[in-house]
Amino acid sequence: MSARGYRASLLWFPDPTQPVVRWEEDGLLVVAPDAQGRQVVQAIGDWRTLSALNCRLPVEHLPGRIIAPGFVDMHVHFPQTNVIGSPADGLLPWLENYTFPEEQRFADAGYGAEAATFFVDELLRNGVSTALAFATTHSTSVDALFSQAQTRGMRLITGLCLMDRHAPSALLNQPGRGRDAVEHSLCESEDLIARWHGQGRLGYAITPRFAPTCSDAQLRGAGELAARHPDVWIQSHVAENYDEIAWARALFPQSASYLGTYADFGLLRSRAVYAHCIHLDAADRALMRSSGAAAAVCPTSNLFLGSGFFDYAAAQQAGFAYGLASDVGGGTSFSPFQTMLAAYYVGREGQSKAGLSLSPQNLWWQHTAGAAQALGLGGVVGNLLPGCEADFVVLNPRATPLLARKTALAKSVDELLFGMVVLGDDRLIERTVLAQAPNLQ
Ligand code: GUN
Ligand code: ZN
Repeated sequence: MSARGYRASLLWFPDPTQPVVRWEEDGLLVVAPDAQGRQVVQAIGDWRTLSALNCRLPVEHLPGRIIAPGFVDMHVHFPQTNVIGSPADGLLPWLENYTFPEEQRFADAGYGAEAATFFVDELLRNGVSTALAFATTHSTSVDALFSQAQTRGMRLITGLCLMDRHAPSALLNQPGRGRDAVEHSLCESEDLIARWHGQGRLGYAITPRFAPTCSDAQLRGAGELAARHPDVWIQSHVAENYDEIAWARALFPQSASYLGTYADFGLLRSRAVYAHCIHLDAADRALMRSSGAAAAVCPTSNLFLGSGFFDYAAAQQAGFAYGLASDVGGGTSFSPFQTMLAAYYVGREGQSKAGLSLSPQNLWWQHTAGAAQALGLGGVVGNLLPGCEADFVVLNPRATPLLARKTALAKSVDELLFGMVVLGDDRLIERTVLAQAPNLQ
């Protein structure tokens, strides 16, 4: 297969480090396969100039449609699809009453396989083409999610959830092959890295759930594993909820802070992604920045569980990397539009005295190019600059009567994008196109 083009309105980020959109009302996106058969962006720009340069190019014309980078979800739990909308008095009762019981069901590999299929379908239906996801403590759940993503050609990072205390015993990592639970969970992680990391578009993440459910031995082992595999990701949770923080401080009193506990065990570095990062202090933020770790901001989850508000002003001042995430099932929606809208509310509320009014371009960047940068995948996904993998969404800004009415009134790109952020959901996504063709045998 050779090059092909898509004619539509186009949205991308000319400087991926900056939350500033480039808009082309009548544009052409040119893609062509690379050596592995993956579609890569060759050119992007205005239709008139690019079509003259590519006169024999087969072009699909999408009048009235917008092509934008596929969304990047920096933190989502695949076993928590059924947990969405479970009310609780905060994080810890929510984990105990709904989340841990649901995750135990993944001991049944068939249950996990069905959930993985639904989950990947739902991400793609919502325009999410890259995700960093939690699985459960069952290695079959990791296999199920990787194989679904591989079948669809989706870019996905996941890993075995590590937890050896303070949860129902059936959910903790189990001993096996003559090894204790910690040793076995680390060997299983090593085995999963060997089998999945770097296979096509898949990546592995070492996944200590959070410090309160991990012993010293498990965190130390996870840090040693991370040191042996500098190119794999690390994912965990930090500073989400006051009770959680008090618990983590009581369990690891020798650390300078909750975030410092992860640093003490070698779990803060680039490609380490920490969900929430709400209640950090200046020293923690400086540590985020100096270590190269990134924050996954989870606004629908933080509002639903009453955890607090990510401090955008302080994060920008400290200069650490961050991007948006659904955090389903603490989060309430798979839709990036709902997440961006919730991020806007969080910015308005803020922790600083004066709330921020995050621009729609900034919100969009946080869920595409900015999130990709934070994951260490800048220049690979989350953007449509030449050389990027051609994951994109086709948006129909007239998908509902209200969207049609509102977007028709837009007098600027900001107004158009804001209309979609506020009113959008899965109906806006007409198509999610992945750089890699599905392999549906
Ligand atoms: N902290 C530890 N586990 C979880 C989880 O599953 N969801 C959220 N939101 N926070 C957590
Ligand atoms: Zn989470």
